[in-house]
Amino acid sequence: MGQKKLIKFAAIKEYENVLEYPQDMQGKWAAFFEVLGKNSSPIDTAKLNTSALTSPVEITPSKALTLELACGRGEYAVGLGRMFPDQNFIGVDLKGNRIWKGASIANKEALKNVAFVRSQIELTPNYFANDEVNEIWITFPDPQLRWSKAKKRLTHPKFLRLYQQFLFGGDGSNKESRNNRNVSGESNNATEAGIVHLKTDSPLLYHFTLKVIELYGLTLLYKTENLYAEANIDPRCLIKTYYEGLDIAQSNKIHYIQFNIDKVLPLELDAVLKEAIKDIPMDAGELLRMEAEAAREKKEA
Ligand SMILES: C[S@@+](CC[C@H](N)C(=O)[O-])C[C@H]1O[C@@H](n2cnc3c(N)ncnc32)[C@H](O)[C@@H]1O
Repeated sequence: MGQKKLIKFAAIKEYENVLEYPQDMQGKWAAFFEVLGKNSSPIDTAKLNTSALTSPVEITPSKALTLELACGRGEYAVGLGRMFPDQNFIGVDLKGNRIWKGASIANKEALKNVAFVRSQIELTPNYFANDEVNEIWITFPDPQLRWSKAKKRLTHPKFLRLYQQFLFGGDGSNKESRNNRNVSGESNNATEAGIVHLKTDSPLLYHFTLKVIELYGLTLLYKTENLYAEANIDPRCLIKTYYEGLDIAQSNKIHYIQFNIDKVLPLELDAVLKEAIKDIPMDAGELLRMEAEAAREKKEA
């Protein structure tokens, strides 16, 4: 392993705003951010609940919590943290050297509402309590283009069932929104479940996700095949990530979907989905992405 990577891995172990495979954190994130904001160092996560703290912190009851999944360098966690100082943001990714970048920027800018979890996304239900998360951004995830790898796509029902365990109102109950925003990024007080945002340059992943939404009867809030051609762009969508900048297939077209996971996702439908997605076409751009994905997997193995 390269020296630079080792330095970054060592650095994030010392960062207060990075937790690696955190234990016993469900329901404690509001307390965590309160302590992070007060510069109490080091943070003893075992003591993070209002009653166990020696000098109890006042917890703002409904500070919205947003996750960026597959965050890489965490451009969304950091960018949203700058935009919404009264809300909290956590980037989740397996790669410590990538998280290091976002966590270093958050430290440098003293963004006390931004943190990172290094872990597999598959383990997220262990970290967040029921209803603890208001929104999820999935930013340029690997499209996992091979049909045989569809289950690894981060919008496959297998993953949506995990997110449902901690996403606000994800169980289908129609709760009053704590902090929903409409597609222009303005707050609204509608009764809605937590929102999932997918931003991708892969038409295949976009159409796959729409198929999932349709088949399982989820609520589609917004979709576009060409985000930057839209007249009224949600300012949050203007945040650009590292992979977006690479524009591997030179398509210059960003696809974006907003939806709720507001229904039970029956396991029996997974077999129907498997058949239904066989027809989704793969264009030349996808082949370039597939090559890039394979090369990256080889390099990282
Ligand atoms: C193509 S990169 C995108 C990174 C970033 N969102 C961007 O747009 O620059 C995909 C990221 O997903 C992460 N990833 C993929 N599968 C994951 C999983 N199951 N658990 C955690 N991270 C995962 C990878 O480590 C990688 O950083």
